[in-house]
Amino acid sequence: MSAPPPDLVDLLLWGVLPYVVLAVFVGGTVWRYRYDKFGWTTRSSQLYESRLLRVGSPLFHFGLLVVIAGHAMGLLVPKGWTEAAGVPDAAYHVVALVLGAVAGVCTLGGVALLVWRRRTTGPVFSATTRNDKLMYAVLVLAILAGLATTLVSAGADLAGRGGHDYRDTVSVWFRGVWVLDPRVDAMAAATLPFHVHALVGLALFALFPFTRLVHAFSAPVGYLFRPYVVYRTRDRLPTRATRPARRGWS
Ligand code: HEM
Repeated sequence: MSAPPPDLVDLLLWGVLPYVVLAVFVGGTVWRYRYDKFGWTTRSSQLYESRLLRVGSPLFHFGLLVVIAGHAMGLLVPKGWTEAAGVPDAAYHVVALVLGAVAGVCTLGGVALLVWRRRTTGPVFSATTRNDKLMYAVLVLAILAGLATTLVSAGADLAGRGGHDYRDTVSVWFRGVWVLDPRVDAMAAATLPFHVHALVGLALFALFPFTRLVHAFSAPVGYLFRPYVVYRTRDRLPTRATRPARRGWS
């Protein structure tokens, strides 16, 4: 017997929405690049304040890099692969929980510091647009909802109720989206915190091209690998004073 057809809301949320967001993300980024190349910037506010920025920015960005690595691992690598590699499911979840929670808390702490700085430093607040405020709100919500999924699952695990294993639901749906086979049934079976987190995450991706977040695509990574700047002394080169005087017009 074939599986029953999915609920219409589930179909729209998990079967249609991801593709709408993908189209907005790609189309919006190309549009922004073509029509607003000179507005493609973080709109840095370092000149106005740098003490809080020096702490908040690395805390947020390095925390986020670990969160992104965790998402790639959890969403893209099938459960069967880690099991085949001899990683027991329980061990996987403990590592994911500890690493995920530490990275999530750093990211949240970093963004909290950045938002507080933005609100309390006069010139930085003046340079904050409505677009920025919306972006920060969705960003903070995405991080909070992500941490909630991790903590709710861990809490259920600790209470012996068995936390929800997103690798059987969210991850199956997520991988399906990329091969044009979104597993609406799998995502529909996830719990509410995961649904809320995925929806806020999708909202952030839809906003991405129209905000300062585009700077992520132009991070100066090449700077880390650029050749050394070579300084040479001019001491032994003839200087104006030691160079033999040229003849008049030559
Ligand atoms: C559609 C997109 C997304 C999906 C499907 C998704 C999925 C998940 C899942 C399954 C977890 C639980 C991981 C665990 O418990 O081990 C999680 C956690 C988390 N997510 Fe997302 N996520 C998405 C987008 C985002 C975005 C855009 C952000 C923020 C910028 C974000 C931030 C977090 C954080 C901070 C955590 C908790 C810490 C961690 O486990 O890394 N997520 N996400």
